Amino acid sequence: MQTKVLILGSTGLLGSAFKHVSKNYNLEFLFPLRDELDLLNPLKLEKYIKSHKPNFIINCAGQNDVKTIESNDDIFELALKLNSFLPFELSKLSKKYNFRLITFSSDYVFDGSKKSYKESDLRNPINRYGLTKSIGEQLTFSVQADVSIFRTAWLFGPFKKNFVSFMVNKAIENQEIKVVNDQYGSPTFTIDIAEYILDNIESHENGVFHLVNDSCVSWYDLTRLSFMILNLSNIVAKVSSEDFKSIVNRPLNSCLNSYNITKLRSLELALKDYLTNYEL
Ligand SMILES: NC(=O)c1ccc[n+]([C@@H]2O[C@H](COP(=O)([O-])OP(=O)(O)OC[C@H]3O[C@@H](n4cnc5c(N)ncnc54)[C@H](OP(=O)(O)O)[C@@H]3O)[C@@H](O)[C@H]2O)c1
Repeated sequence: MQTKVLILGSTGLLGSAFKHVSKNYNLEFLFPLRDELDLLNPLKLEKYIKSHKPNFIINCAGQNDVKTIESNDDIFELALKLNSFLPFELSKLSKKYNFRLITFSSDYVFDGSKKSYKESDLRNPINRYGLTKSIGEQLTFSVQADVSIFRTAWLFGPFKKNFVSFMVNKAIENQEIKVVNDQYGSPTFTIDIAEYILDNIESHENGVFHLVNDSCVSWYDLTRLSFMILNLSNIVAKVSSEDFKSIVNRPLNSCLNSYNITKLRSLELALKDYLTNYEL
């Protein structure tokens, strides 16, 4: 029988990358949409899993609107349901129905006070989004099921607006561009994540893993590198986090280092691939 992979959140930035590359794999995929499967209803979730019997569930669903989570209590509550309790429910179901859960967490579980983070570093979120992801990790681990948690960061890729496409489109429209130059992270190409996960589908282990392209750059560096690849000569003004007042505290340095798995290819190669081979 063919290995069955259930992808949750397949309309999102990361989920749509899985859908795009799925045709290259000899696996059976299910991509249920919201109206087919209500992820916030544990009974319906269990019924779906019981009837479809997936061997793997890849959970790309989530509430990732960092600013709105911070400012709106209803959205914070929704984020707790999707980012904390959904992976917890899924990990319990993984024990009962014998599938491996692959789920995603974030660099925002860290406070950003170190130069870079390894998998075993202590979580200490400084905003509500990070808190929901951190609680999700903790609850999921408490079940001791077959679960692989991949922390990733600063995603860019096709099929949905993201920081890189936003900045490039601003440049093409000749708009003024100001970018924060004192927050560092590890931007990552969604297609690289999807291919890594599916290439190794049978060999993922339990635990937490940092899955990012190889780099540690600021938002400013990321913008400049993208423009350089596309030969765009727009001026990019540097601003500090202090100048760019926001209601959200963001970690100043949340670069991820992978000690438990090999890193993905370099940021430059991944960005070149995205910017030259996909629609922005
Ligand atoms: N984006 C980043 O930079 C980033 C960085 C670090 C980690 N991550 C993690 O990577 C994962 C994927 O992120 P992403 O950026 O791809 O997210 P995204 O683009 O916001 O997509 C979220 C997905 O979840 C689905 N969803 C949300 N609420 C739902 C609900 N109530 N019922 C059913 N489906 C629901 C959405 O469906 P609809 O289209 O129907 O709304 C969408 O398919 C998340 O775990 C995120 O925390 C992301």
